[in-house]
Amino acid sequence: MLDFRPHLSINERGHLALGGADLVELAEKYGTPLYVYDEQRIRERYREFRDAFAGYGDVEVCYAYKANTSLAILHILRSEGAGADIVSEGELYLALKVGLSGDKIIFTGNNKSDRELEKAVEAGVIINLDSLHELERLIDIVEAENAEAKVSFRVNPEVSPETHPHLATGLRESKFGIHEDIVLKAYERAMRCSRLNVVGIHMHIGSQITKTEPYEEATRRLFDIIGRLKRELGLELEFADLGGGVGIRYSGEQSYITPAQLAEAILPIIEEKLAEYSLRKPKLLFEPGRYIVGDAGVMLARVYTIKRTPYKKFIGCDAGFNLLIRPAMYGSHHDVVVANKASLAPAEEVTIAGNLCESGDLLAKDRLLPEIEKGDILAFLDAGAYGFVMASQYNSRPRCAEVLVNNGKAELIRYAEDFADLVAKQVVPKRLR
Ligand SMILES: Cc1ncc(COP(=O)(O)O)c(C=O)c1O
Repeated sequence: MLDFRPHLSINERGHLALGGADLVELAEKYGTPLYVYDEQRIRERYREFRDAFAGYGDVEVCYAYKANTSLAILHILRSEGAGADIVSEGELYLALKVGLSGDKIIFTGNNKSDRELEKAVEAGVIINLDSLHELERLIDIVEAENAEAKVSFRVNPEVSPETHPHLATGLRESKFGIHEDIVLKAYERAMRCSRLNVVGIHMHIGSQITKTEPYEEATRRLFDIIGRLKRELGLELEFADLGGGVGIRYSGEQSYITPAQLAEAILPIIEEKLAEYSLRKPKLLFEPGRYIVGDAGVMLARVYTIKRTPYKKFIGCDAGFNLLIRPAMYGSHHDVVVANKASLAPAEEVTIAGNLCESGDLLAKDRLLPEIEKGDILAFLDAGAYGFVMASQYNSRPRCAEVLVNNGKAELIRYAEDFADLVAKQVVPKRLR
């Protein structure tokens, strides 16, 4: 299980360690549930992605904030030189807060409010438009404010990325992007507005993609559109953004691709299309989220209840889908290690239940693990992306703390919420008190 996760190891005490830090000790020190991330792994994955495309030349990796917006992690990625792919005013706030300049930020999102468009114009970010209607609203805004904006369009390449249906975003029937039949009309309209600088094109076909073929097909379509923009509108774009979506290995059996394999698959297609349409080389943008932070994070939970039913043995722990929703939402698999018994052989099949009053609150089903007792610490691996960031206070359970490990040393990066946080923004009208 640890062979393809070099940042995880078993130490001399038989405990699971992340980035050299003993996870059982961290659970004792900071309490459970707890999220822990490995800084060096995040840096390593960012660099791996960036370097995979270095042969092309001008490439920028805009980390997809939605995968994990913990500030310390955003700072790590800014220090590496990453830009930001953002989808809301909140993410814009965070990107500016960590010190990114507008030109390092691309604002996607399929349903931006007027206020979000205004803030994006004010910050000077690249506004990635998702519909003709959004374009018209942006034109109204820049004209009313005598402002200018850099824009690109998200196109829908109509390909199936062969992932979970909820993670496919470039299907014909998807809500995202502009379909090819009107894409030239959109560019043509934007070019007629002198306040808009039309600089790019974008696609994002989905998430947790484990094959190169969908990217190859989508890249062909994207560059055919770029070619048509030049031939029919005389427009040469500064950048082509190929989105994110590269999957990670949630288990040893799962198929996967690496950024290097992706580069090997799509860069020749790009070169071929550039030649076919006699295009200047655009800058390439990528927006990986999961690949950068996914396997760098684990969620720790403590075992409280052991329950046998005639059908299953349930292990009850102190986390639920309020903290890690992926198994309940997508049926996702997270490998589990009993952190304090990491060197013991599997002994029994168990299902790990969360502490929420929902029958769907099962964090791991039918897993072979060492015999588990009350007090054991469970580590849910690969929880760095779409983990804490999707957490809620459901069942009035405050969100947990987060810790960052760097070369064996741990630092708290988020305090656990307390009960006051459950009511912090609530108001009870006087007449009800
Ligand atoms: C527009 C856009 N870019 C990038 C991403 C990041 O995807 P991933 O975390 O799979 O790399 C997403 C996530 O769905 C997205 O919607």
